[in-house]
Amino acid sequence: MNPELHTLPNGQHHVACIMDGNGRWAESRDLPRTAGHTAGEENLASIVRASVQRDIGWLTVFGFSTENWVRPRAEVRHILGLHERLFGRVEELNDNNVRIRWIGRPFDSAESRTPRFVQRAIKKAIADTANNTGLVLTVAFDYGSRFEMMDAVRSARRNGTDIDITSVTQRLHDPDLPPVDVMIRTSGEIRVSNFLLWQAAGSAIYFTETPWPDLSANELDTALSLVGTA
Ligand code: IPE
Ligand code: IPE
Ligand code: MG
Repeated sequence: MNPELHTLPNGQHHVACIMDGNGRWAESRDLPRTAGHTAGEENLASIVRASVQRDIGWLTVFGFSTENWVRPRAEVRHILGLHERLFGRVEELNDNNVRIRWIGRPFDSAESRTPRFVQRAIKKAIADTANNTGLVLTVAFDYGSRFEMMDAVRSARRNGTDIDITSVTQRLHDPDLPPVDVMIRTSGEIRVSNFLLWQAAGSAIYFTETPWPDLSANELDTALSLVGTA
């Protein structure tokens, strides 16, 4: 852990998850891929509860990437519905004092692909959990790190601002998102993704064969044990 990058108060950690392997989880059970996405959403709810019980201040999860739109229409439609449902779990979030946020291509940008009904669910969930003071859960939807960095640089240039670390950081989708302490990638993919490339400078990385729907609180602890020793 680089102390200059990692300055979260109270020793709390920022955990980021690339929730990969839903499709393979389903295929290994002879289920349709959509069933894997549904199981993945359920597991996210349990990882959120586990995070609340631990010293995790920020949990950021990759729900749908800017590259995922090319998947079959029925699968995309299913994933959209799951995100509407995820952002609709306001009562549960409030019970756990969780504040939900979102990062992705801004709805008013020419490149945005997020449909209106998902936009509405996102905006409502953010407003309805804004007063919570516990875990900050950020869902990346229609998110791509390269777009985010490019957009930040574009915005600084438009304003005639010098391009430096601070001016770019301030123009990321969520400038308040702290540096990542540990990045988890499930399902045996040992490679980086187009996810939080700026924010993850200096982060530990935990790769596991476990597909996302099976990731347990125990494995979350294993990932957390890497923080500070990376
Ligand atoms: C991750 O699981 C979820 C999304 C990308 C939306 P995948 O759907 O990528 O599952 P695999 O990698 O095909 O098993
Ligand atoms: C990463 O999974 C994106 C999400 C988890 C949303 P993918 O399955 O889309 O990633 P790649 O394309 O294999 O890197
Ligand atoms: Mg995948």
